[in-house]
Amino acid sequence: MTAHHRFDDISIEDLVAQGSMKWTRNEGHLAAFVAEMDFGTAPAVSEALHTAIDHAQLGYLPPAVKTDMSQATSDYLTSHYDWKVAPGQIYPTADVLSAYTVVLETLSRPGAPVILPTPAYMPFLTLTPARGREVIQVPMIEGENGRLEMDLVSIAQGFEQGAEMFILCNPHNPLGRVYSREELEALAAVVDAHQGLVFSDEIHAPLTFPGHRHIPYASLSETTAHHTITATSASKAFNIPGLKCAQLIVSSPQHHETLEKVAFMVSHGAATPGVMANTAAYQSGGPWLEDVLSYIDTNRTLLADLLEKHLPQMGYRAPEGTYIAWLDATGLPPVAGDRSWAQFFSDEARVALTDGALCGEAGVGHLRLMLATPSHILEKIVIAMADAVANAQS
Ligand SMILES: Cc1ncc(COP(=O)(O)O)c(C=O)c1O
Repeated sequence: MTAHHRFDDISIEDLVAQGSMKWTRNEGHLAAFVAEMDFGTAPAVSEALHTAIDHAQLGYLPPAVKTDMSQATSDYLTSHYDWKVAPGQIYPTADVLSAYTVVLETLSRPGAPVILPTPAYMPFLTLTPARGREVIQVPMIEGENGRLEMDLVSIAQGFEQGAEMFILCNPHNPLGRVYSREELEALAAVVDAHQGLVFSDEIHAPLTFPGHRHIPYASLSETTAHHTITATSASKAFNIPGLKCAQLIVSSPQHHETLEKVAFMVSHGAATPGVMANTAAYQSGGPWLEDVLSYIDTNRTLLADLLEKHLPQMGYRAPEGTYIAWLDATGLPPVAGDRSWAQFFSDEARVALTDGALCGEAGVGHLRLMLATPSHILEKIVIAMADAVANAQS
């Protein structure tokens, strides 16, 4: 028995009444499909938002607010990852996906394909072709102790086929991997040998579990600093993606020169209250986040126990970081028929999950499930899924 936590008192009715996208998109469903937490946000973030309203800080981004965020991010990177980045190299931007679009269009060779390890965060597979670029999907391969790792041989082949940019997602959505220094160094050697460019999506960086440490890819060496553009935000860890603020971190002088010319485009979408909220999260959100992480840590073990008890054919490896669980449904009895497993569980269990196929070919037969929910809801989700499988078999 774990000790009672205040998040245990949050009910489904509370969450539906709050009216989030997560809890209102699929009426009558248990919601586990979108990367949002059910825990609100840090008191420091709420205070910053009240200050924004009280001081009518609702206009375009004032220079001092921008500078404060760059400084707070720089301090956070130094204190958490020992990565020293001058505040002038940190741009506010609306979100990681718009930062990706700007980087794709201004720093990577027009028309060149993009290499993406799969399964991957879904929009990279749709946004990239929407910008006229082919995605070279490189399925992750089973490595040490069955964990999934980047396939460096196929990544090298992707560069040889004409790709220039590689999308690194660390900590990884949806696999929950937190790459080790050795893995990142091995990737760096391949990228360097092919003079590639890395878009390093580190939006989940503050969300790592004991035994795993986030290493910013650009911080590895001068070489990686020169071939990387990093995007991060307080939005996942502090549950504020609707506030529209992320950080684009530029660690190469050449990239800096190019991006300065489009700095307006990079930063125009960043919302002033969101920038203030990110500053507050980085400066003072630590105690809240520590509590949240320890709750999610319990949930990632609880999910293993629940699956073992109720749905043992479902494959699951606890994430090393993020609050995303990647479920392997390929061992389940074939009761879904022509439907994807996500559709089956939506129809038969009233549980909303992400269809792994949206994460690339390597994700077919898999599901994404969010762990940042009260434990009693996680339990309901697994039992509803298990009952649906049992009913379909009988
Ligand atoms: C890995 C990853 N990248 C990017 C995003 C989207 O971030 P943003 O809302 O800042 O575009 C998400 C959202 O869940 C994510 O998990």
